[in-house]
Amino acid sequence: MPEETAPYGSGPAAAAQQAPARRVRTHHLREMKERGERITMLTAYDMYTAATFDEAGIDLLLVGDSASNNVYGNETSLPVTVEELLPLTRAVSRSVKRAMVVGDLPFGSYQASPEQGYLTAVRFMKEAGAHCVKLEGGAEMAPVIEKCTRGGIPVMAHIGFTPQSEHTLGGYRVQGRGDASDRVVEDARAVQEAGAFAVVMEMVPGDVAERISKELTIPTIGIGAGAGCDGQVLVWQDAFGLRTGKMARFVKQYADVHAVLLDAARAYADDVRGGTFPGPEHTF
Ligand code: KIV
Repeated sequence: MPEETAPYGSGPAAAAQQAPARRVRTHHLREMKERGERITMLTAYDMYTAATFDEAGIDLLLVGDSASNNVYGNETSLPVTVEELLPLTRAVSRSVKRAMVVGDLPFGSYQASPEQGYLTAVRFMKEAGAHCVKLEGGAEMAPVIEKCTRGGIPVMAHIGFTPQSEHTLGGYRVQGRGDASDRVVEDARAVQEAGAFAVVMEMVPGDVAERISKELTIPTIGIGAGAGCDGQVLVWQDAFGLRTGKMARFVKQYADVHAVLLDAARAYADDVRGGTFPGPEHTF
């Protein structure tokens, strides 16, 4: 009897292990910045999106704490836990050949002390196969960044609007307008000085982000920070249209995945209800 094709997908995880590709590393990102080559980053939270974005040549895949909203259905990123993010990070890191996988440290898992931050970061590297971690905060997070980088964990910082602090920042607001730009510039300098290999800048005026990108030697990755950054990141459900509804101004929609899935689910339901699926060709 011939063996059947695996029913639920045998997984790109296995394929990823067969054909080694050159892994994106922190020094490649810095070289890209030096060459003026733009860096690409997307979120991913599962095996198939990770493998697909990796195949597309996306340099960095962020298993963001935005999984709180986009996977677990919370209103904000605050409730998601380390225990909830680790399995998603593991799925993504198992499924890529080339992309650098960024584990995102959730709210409350690193702010208490550098030791807490280091131990949480170790879990993302050891248990989930992340290649680096991301954490939110500028100058005040320098001791955590130092502790992690000295302990062998590359850290991507995240400054400007930091969603984990939305209640301190007074909601979703652009950070660094007018005189407040000094604070963002100081944060950028502080995280570089502390050893971060890259920095995400979220909702920062384009001219400020561009100035910072020119000054820093580490790559800057923008989200709502204009075209002057060294790279860009978007949440995939926003960019590819799985999420519907009002989108932030900085999002560009590249596809309408929601419509594709909706049509497919309706067609399937019609077939099942009408008795046209399964047909003889699907029947043993
Ligand atoms: O969690 C996330 O998706 C992020 C991006 C918005 C950068 O932090």
